[in-house]
Amino acid sequence: MATPAKGTGPGYPPLALRCTDVRVWRWHQASATRKPLLDDVSWTVRTGERWALLGPNGAGKTTLLTLAAAAGFPSSGTVEIMGETMGQTDAARLRQQIGFVDARDGDRFAPMLSVREVIRTGATGTIGYFEQRLGMLDVDRADTLLGTFGLGPLAERRFGDCSQGERKRVLIARALVGRPRLLLLDEPGVGLDLPGREILLGSLARLADVDPLLTMIVTTHHLEELHGSTTHALLLRDGIVLAAGPVNETLTDRQLTACFGIPIAASRRGDRWTATAG
Ligand SMILES: Nc1ncnc2c1ncn2[C@@H]1O[C@H](COP(=O)(O)OP(=O)(O)O)[C@@H](O)[C@H]1O
Ligand SMILES: [Mg+2]
Repeated sequence: MATPAKGTGPGYPPLALRCTDVRVWRWHQASATRKPLLDDVSWTVRTGERWALLGPNGAGKTTLLTLAAAAGFPSSGTVEIMGETMGQTDAARLRQQIGFVDARDGDRFAPMLSVREVIRTGATGTIGYFEQRLGMLDVDRADTLLGTFGLGPLAERRFGDCSQGERKRVLIARALVGRPRLLLLDEPGVGLDLPGREILLGSLARLADVDPLLTMIVTTHHLEELHGSTTHALLLRDGIVLAAGPVNETLTDRQLTACFGIPIAASRRGDRWTATAG
């Protein structure tokens, strides 16, 4: 059977995300002023695209990803997620179609749960493991994802004994058990050693092949952490979008330099990017 074209799968709207004139303000106690965390952000993500969200610390990446996850509201402007407008829809139901893996999620699980059990909790959307609530399809799906993320040999290992890289892959696999249409990863490469990072990037690229309609947005501040299937990039600085579009047109030396505030020379070799200052 032919693979459906992007955005044309059954039940998949053509746009995964659309932000229009989005602003998020936060009160800054020390100066008694309000501070824009996101300023006039307009951004369109089509179904099946793989975006990298890049910017220095404090640029607003997590704030923007939280809006995409239906886990926050803009102060002004509109956020449409898979065709539904935040504020006019049931956000909890929408969140069931979104896999969101936050940098701190790993601390929430009991360390004695096995890797297999933590992944299966994705079917119930719980932190605890409730075997009696799992169906055969859930179990099959969780076991398939164990393989996709190279976790088969670790299936019975205690989650608490896993390395940071292994935990990250477990949590991403868990987020996919419920068959989300949108996968959001906040800095998945942080804290990983070189082999851990390489295995993670390989898994993400494989996932993109296995599930071509899955839309992915991954935040990072390192070009080296872009996985090979990245199609688009958005550069954010001080809450402002400096550039957004196809990855080769967006990750130019000029635009990266403006984004990170130091001279940057970027290069692409095959599927991988590197950046050097100077
Ligand atoms: N709840 C909050 N209240 C006030 N300031 C916040 C809050 N959350 C984030 N910030 C600030 O907003 C800015 C953007 O944060 P964030 O989205 O986490 O950036 P990034 O993920 O790119 O590092 C940062 O300066 C951060 O300190
Ligand atoms: Mg962040």
